[in-house]
Amino acid sequence: MASSSAGDRVLNPVLAQRVMGGEEAAALIQPGAQIGMSGFTGSGYPKEVPMALARRITDANLRGQHFKVNIFTGASTGPELDGALAMVGAMQFRTPYQSDPITRKRINAGEMDYLDIHLSQVAQYVQYGFFGTMDLALIEVAAILEDGRVIPSTSIGNNQTWIECAEKVILEVNSSQPMELEGMHDLYYGLGRPPHRDPIPLTTPNQRIGVPYLKIPPEKVIAVVRTNAPDRATAFKAPDENSRKIAANILDFLGWEVKKGRLPESLLPLQSGVGNIANAVLYGLEEGPFEGLTAYTEVIQDGLISLLNSGKMLSASATAFSLSPEGAESIMPKIGEYRERIVLRSQEMSNNPGIIRRLGVIAMNGMIEADIYGNVNSTHIMGSSIMNGIGGSGDFARNGFMSIFMAPSTAQHGTISTIVPMASHVDHTEHDVSVVVTEQGLADLRGLSPKQRARLIIENCSHPDYRPALRDYFNRAERLSYGKHTPHLLTESLSWHSRYLRCGHMLRQED
Ligand code: COA
Repeated sequence: MASSSAGDRVLNPVLAQRVMGGEEAAALIQPGAQIGMSGFTGSGYPKEVPMALARRITDANLRGQHFKVNIFTGASTGPELDGALAMVGAMQFRTPYQSDPITRKRINAGEMDYLDIHLSQVAQYVQYGFFGTMDLALIEVAAILEDGRVIPSTSIGNNQTWIECAEKVILEVNSSQPMELEGMHDLYYGLGRPPHRDPIPLTTPNQRIGVPYLKIPPEKVIAVVRTNAPDRATAFKAPDENSRKIAANILDFLGWEVKKGRLPESLLPLQSGVGNIANAVLYGLEEGPFEGLTAYTEVIQDGLISLLNSGKMLSASATAFSLSPEGAESIMPKIGEYRERIVLRSQEMSNNPGIIRRLGVIAMNGMIEADIYGNVNSTHIMGSSIMNGIGGSGDFARNGFMSIFMAPSTAQHGTISTIVPMASHVDHTEHDVSVVVTEQGLADLRGLSPKQRARLIIENCSHPDYRPALRDYFNRAERLSYGKHTPHLLTESLSWHSRYLRCGHMLRQED
């Protein structure tokens, strides 16, 4: 763990003049401000100023003012940011991925606007002004060195873009983040804008093509706030029997692909999505036969660290850590040991479609439901209620060498089938999904027509309790459908969710 105290972390004499408290910094934020904040899956998000801002907004609203802000991040953050601001109703608009329960509730109650876009595209949207101007960048960093170079924190996300585009910058220097993070980041500043965008010279997952420090024009920095509050990532559920079966099905499949000569023995760079199942698959790989693995992914989860520790994985590239509290406690004090094997990049790079295609990434992501033709819903419950967001799943699914989607075959204690006739919302179309897998089995959809896919998904992936109903639907659709290419009985397929999800708590809200 770093020996530096809070005072040691602001070494640049010019920026040291701008050190102030969180309340003072929050007072610099105006109603309606558009704020680009650091933070990605519970890592490296500012803590002090957002909480002070939430208090300021509460006071202002009590005085009858209408004080709201628009929040842009890398992805999900933590209770001190999304949680605190959502609690006081401070967010008018929020993008991209979030997973905070209070924010989710407000979005689904229609109390705030939420835009869910591919994580690789956020930077470009901001650079080209689709959201208007960015007033402020609020970025957590590990330290400011004497010469002004800045050591990033436990995530990079969109920080480069926020700093480039925002008129002003506030830095939170977090002394709970280890100084040994220095050298782990790779900030690439060569990504021009079209038509002057050159090829990105990255050809292996752990290659470094940039610099390890954030470049921040000192004249933009209006405040530096010291904090020592730790990241508060969500705990993972321990892998249950279903997760282990899903992992085993994926491992068998990958082994088969190696045997067929379609994958090298060390596989191809792995991307593993957020969530409990994805984490369980990583643990499964640790017990599997593959050696010399690499990851080109979005987040470093506990399971990935475990793979690195086991020696089965050589290196991992991502944009953030996403560790459980226990994982963070055990890994962060010795993070320097991983410096050669972990690279953290901006999310424009970690999720870059061109790089993902070039490296041939194997994408593995969780889903809420898949329909019998292979369309996947990653984001919505009952077609209208957002869970988290698409995150980077679309960046990886469409551009990877193959795209695997996984979920238990039922949700909510067996009361809901995750295999349905028609997805209630589509994030990944049938054209982007190579494999669907549940604890029941795996359907390799590559090279199959819609009807072939439907038979395979029903027989291999659906739960036996729901299989007869799905078979019955498909058989009747084959006979009675208007078109026979992707047979559907529209009225029936659209009512499936309300007919078969009777016991789900989500439905009770709608009934
Ligand atoms: N209907 C109703 N509820 C459902 C459901 C369905 N079809 N499928 C899942 N759920 C519920 C679960 O019951 C669970 O509820 P609970 O918290 O009350 O127990 C919750 O959704 C989460 O499901 P879980 O099985 O624990 O999944 P997970 O942690 O593996 O997460 C996603 C699954 C889809 C929510 C998650 O992977 C996600 O947000 N994906 C989109 C973003 C993404 O893929 N990012 C990765 C890019 S790198």
